[in-house]
Amino acid sequence: MQFQWSMPTRCFFGHDALRRHGEVLTSLGKRAMVVTGRAGAERSGALTGVTTLLDALGISWARFEQVEPNPSLETVLAGARATEEFAADFVIGIGGGSPMDAAKAIAALVHNRDPEALFAGRYDYPVLPVVAVPTTAGTGSEVTPYSILTDHGRGIKRSLSAPVLFPAFSFLDSRYLDTLPGPSLVNTVLDALSHAAEGFLARRATPLSDTLAMESLAIIGRHLAGLAEKERDPKLLDDLLYASQLAGMVIAQTGTTIAHGMGYGLTVHHEMDHGYANGAIFPAFLSFSMVHQPDRTTAILAALAMDGLEAFQDAVTGLLGPFPKIAAERLDQLAQAASQTANVHNTVPEPSLSDIRAMFTATFG
Ligand SMILES: [Fe+2]
Repeated sequence: MQFQWSMPTRCFFGHDALRRHGEVLTSLGKRAMVVTGRAGAERSGALTGVTTLLDALGISWARFEQVEPNPSLETVLAGARATEEFAADFVIGIGGGSPMDAAKAIAALVHNRDPEALFAGRYDYPVLPVVAVPTTAGTGSEVTPYSILTDHGRGIKRSLSAPVLFPAFSFLDSRYLDTLPGPSLVNTVLDALSHAAEGFLARRATPLSDTLAMESLAIIGRHLAGLAEKERDPKLLDDLLYASQLAGMVIAQTGTTIAHGMGYGLTVHHEMDHGYANGAIFPAFLSFSMVHQPDRTTAILAALAMDGLEAFQDAVTGLLGPFPKIAAERLDQLAQAASQTANVHNTVPEPSLSDIRAMFTATFG
């Protein structure tokens, strides 16, 4: 057996995590840039939690609140300029995947001015420390070394990936999920499900990532049915945030597969939510996987307590409703773009263009 494992983020999980453990932020400096979207950080209570803490610790802060869903290169460059002007020592990302991914990119760009160098893996100058405070149960960004950005010039999503992008600290308080709208909770949990399952099927899967993936899927499987309407009791929210963290730790090691590669085009060109796109594609992706990796695919369905592929398809359709139809010509273009992503090479076996086209057609045709 041979594998590598690295998870350098120090995580604090539980109610009042910020209040109980927030003093660790003093080790990062005296000035913080708080990176958020326009609504989620406030609605969840996480923004108040963070700023109250910073004030109590005597840490000066400014807020960059311009992060849109699927953050663009332009946005993170503007955030880096604001962070440099404020002379921040560290960056705090509060929200779902978009603000946390943006916080990482901003932290990297303050001293490394050229995003192309970062995309090529060249980090010539220090990256500011990042603190992550998730307010959704899906992205896992609080425990990954990834930042996914939208390059509107090229019309594609592009990934920053480097060990220096792991957050220094993450604070996971499931009470911040309490006000998340039902559809957002569903979409983000389906994103977490796809992380765990794709990590389990990925070429880069390891024995340790498999263990975390199975645990994550088992927890998600217990809560999936009727998720949007469920009462948000503390146990449910703790479970979902924990499962999402586990799934993030999985993809931090394994990366994602063609299911995420296919989802990227849908979010950039069809304004589809990231988790929704992955969830919609997933029944077709598991059908593909069932042919080529039957044992692993069966294990995923068993962990989710699903009685076969059809039951899984029904569960996803029940949560997301009927999927939108997309014209055949457009699906060809999306398949072509997905076939160019690095995700193809992490999929077992590497799907052909016609495999990808067939998965798109089964879902949106
Ligand atoms: Fe994802």
